[in-house]
Amino acid sequence: MENNVKTMMLGTGVAIPPKTLTNQDLEKIVDTSDEWIRERTGMQVRHIVDDETQNSDLSAQAAKQALKDADMDAEEIDTLIVATVTGDVTFPATACYVQDKIGAVNAAAFDIQAACSGFLFGLSIADGFVGTGKSKNVLVIGCELLTRIVDWKDRSTCVLFGDAAGAAVLGPANGDGRGILGTFMKTDGRLAHLLCMPGGGTRYPAQVAISENLNTLKMRGPEVFRAAVTAMGDAAAHILETAGLTVDDVDLLIPHQANKRIIDATVRRMKIPPEKVYINVHEYGNTSSASIPVALNEAKEKGLLKPGDVCVMVAFGGGFTWGSVAVRM
Ligand code: ACO
Repeated sequence: MENNVKTMMLGTGVAIPPKTLTNQDLEKIVDTSDEWIRERTGMQVRHIVDDETQNSDLSAQAAKQALKDADMDAEEIDTLIVATVTGDVTFPATACYVQDKIGAVNAAAFDIQAACSGFLFGLSIADGFVGTGKSKNVLVIGCELLTRIVDWKDRSTCVLFGDAAGAAVLGPANGDGRGILGTFMKTDGRLAHLLCMPGGGTRYPAQVAISENLNTLKMRGPEVFRAAVTAMGDAAAHILETAGLTVDDVDLLIPHQANKRIIDATVRRMKIPPEKVYINVHEYGNTSSASIPVALNEAKEKGLLKPGDVCVMVAFGGGFTWGSVAVRM
């Protein structure tokens, strides 16, 4: 299987806004409690951007750190992908602003939208591009400023989200077996209405959206929860099969950090020992497409992922989208 490895992860980076929002802070904004949030989600604190910071700022910060980690100059990147549902503007792509901010002058830059699965969809695209020789060095960024689009009057959603960015640089594998072992992506658009921001596009342009309160994130939580548990299990099973791995081969599982209960259910379904599962949802909340690259970078920094270790990442998000990637570090 490892002879098929075409794409290697060369570096990772993150950007975390310094300002925090605790459960106690949220108690002052909506009718909620620290106890309810901890029990239902596992969350304690999230990081939120100040009014001046844009998605492309956080993305650029994470990108620079990933480039440094990869010991690479921005000019060496030929493909720049930003996975986000909270871009700077409707168009052009946030990736264009990031390209300018980091000086990736030789890159084709574009955004992809797969909500919380965005970073893994980006890795999958990067693997395809590098594997076919279409690209050499690809920068994949997952960045969200979800606190800008939540409804601060809706306690069932506003307590869940935080802001962050994470990035990875990918390039050709060097033949030692390290790199992307497999990828899996899936979508079910019949369930798109369960988690979305309806306003601001062409269906409900900005002015209509504001007057009808459609310019904020809408989620039918319990339905999303049920679908997430099934989809995460599905994504985990597929990636083990695709990459020719067993649970015993996995050194670290990084699930999308949406809710501790969804993670626990995925862990039970996979029958993976809990000590092999990385969880930081208590520190960041749900940062959507940033959640996996932030966790990945953190796990590396803590020494939980050493060269040669197998890491499996599994995500689920609006769309619905779900997917998984296995990588030998
Ligand atoms: N504080 C206190 N009470 C609350 C809060 C809150 N913040 N939010 C809801 N409640 C109340 C409800 O009003 C309801 O009260 P009622 O029984 O009197 O009607 C009660 O708590 C239970 O509400 P449920 O929605 O059934 O609670 P649930 O256990 O399902 O937890 C949650 C809600 C946390 C949102 C859960 O459904 C969930 O995590 N869903 C999945 C979210 C997710 O994974 N999203 C991932 C994708 S995100 C993306 O793609 C951008």
